[in-house]
Amino acid sequence: MRHKPKSADPLNADSAGVDQSTKSVVILISGRGSNLQAILHAHLPCRVAAVISNLADAEGLNIARAHDIPAIVISHGNFINRAAFDAALAKEIDLHRPDLVVLAGFMRILTPEFVARYRGRLINIHPSLLPAYSGLDTHQRALADGVKIHGCTAHYVTDNLDHGPIIIQAAVTVLKDDTPASLAARVLQEEHRIYPQVIRWLCTGRVALGMDGRVKFNLLEQPAPALISPMLE
Ligand code: GRF
Repeated sequence: MRHKPKSADPLNADSAGVDQSTKSVVILISGRGSNLQAILHAHLPCRVAAVISNLADAEGLNIARAHDIPAIVISHGNFINRAAFDAALAKEIDLHRPDLVVLAGFMRILTPEFVARYRGRLINIHPSLLPAYSGLDTHQRALADGVKIHGCTAHYVTDNLDHGPIIIQAAVTVLKDDTPASLAARVLQEEHRIYPQVIRWLCTGRVALGMDGRVKFNLLEQPAPALISPMLE
């Protein structure tokens, strides 16, 4: 989705003549915002209503500003506890009435109350093939374990940190000379491919979270070749 001034933006639901059913998305960040950038460059059939950061110096805020998207800071340090911060965050999010809340490098653990409020419309991208390597330092830990395949996962957010229902994963081979940085860079490239796709699926009703807590796909699952690492001879 490209965010030009409203009158020129055919995907902006506030623009004249645009389908008012266009989905609205709020994106939460804490840092550089490369996933935000990938989402904005993907021409998705939705509108980014706001980008919210818990850190005032998050570089991703400038990406939002460059696309004329409201860039809002709610500093977690200004609140006495997690619940108070999450309540303020939810209040701001709800002003934008989003259909989807996208965590894109948002580095705060959310309270069960917050997670429950956005059940089925709160997603995250994590830099590992979950359930392996939940939490931090995923690339370093994968290299230390000598795994040959690593990757990233987009999933619904639940109370169980990094263990919500998985929507899609992308795998990369681990190369013998990889460092955490080189591996992170290849995984990040895949994040930028799968996360916009997930948002497209959610905004067009191709994917949803069922009442049973399982991901429902309203699309053909494509068979893909196995990824084997190292390669067979
Ligand atoms: C990504 O690796 C994402 O998987 C993780 O935090 C990082 C955010 O990167 N949750 P960016 O801010 O989108 O560049």
